[in-house]
Amino acid sequence: MSSTNRGYQRHVSDFYITPQEPIKQFLEKFLSIETLKQDIKILDPCAGGNEKYDMPYFKVLESLGFNNIRIADIREDSQARFKLDFLNDVLDFEYFDLTISNPPFNLAIEFINKALNNTKNNGFVVMLLRLNFFGSQSRKKFFAENMPKYCFVHSKRISFFPEDFELDGKVYKKGSTDSIEYAHFVWQKNYKQDYCKTYVI
Ligand SMILES: C[S@@+](CC[C@H](N)C(=O)[O-])C[C@H]1O[C@@H](n2cnc3c(N)ncnc32)[C@H](O)[C@@H]1O
Repeated sequence: MSSTNRGYQRHVSDFYITPQEPIKQFLEKFLSIETLKQDIKILDPCAGGNEKYDMPYFKVLESLGFNNIRIADIREDSQARFKLDFLNDVLDFEYFDLTISNPPFNLAIEFINKALNNTKNNGFVVMLLRLNFFGSQSRKKFFAENMPKYCFVHSKRISFFPEDFELDGKVYKKGSTDSIEYAHFVWQKNYKQDYCKTYVI
């Protein structure tokens, strides 16, 4: 299958589609630990989706009863209500209680910092990242200053291929995974510890 003329072009703006099941597993566990009211202000700054695929975090949050969710993305073909560059546009939104997404991996630090700046005191920033995001010299200082409160490691590898996909001459079968482990990292604004509580879900 060619990567042109199709519903899912993952290389555009680092567009991957996160399946809803691991998001649900994470949220159910997280919400059993931290109590969040259903009308809290939530932002998904890179919500994804297109004409064929839903915005997964929005769908799961909505199914869990959350009702005050802002959804944004830089892509014009995203289903997000606000089309914006989260890193460079001035947000006229207020501050949020929870910012949650699967960000473009190569911009993850920038997304986390910006999200923390737009988060209320004691609010949360949740990002789906590779587990080895912890292990890098270049991020050591960041973690020294911004240790997440929790890390929820997905024991089942996540597939970002809802259909067969060909990229750079390599064919990825629907449902296939690579050898990368993923985790939902949870920062709490003004939480200052030098350790992180880890759950395997
Ligand atoms: C890895 S995909 C994840 C999409 C969705 N959150 C999901 O989990 O399926 C990253 C998303 O970030 C969006 N994006 C990339 N750069 C962005 C930016 N500067 N501001 C807002 N969205 C951005 C892309 O268009 C893409 O939809």
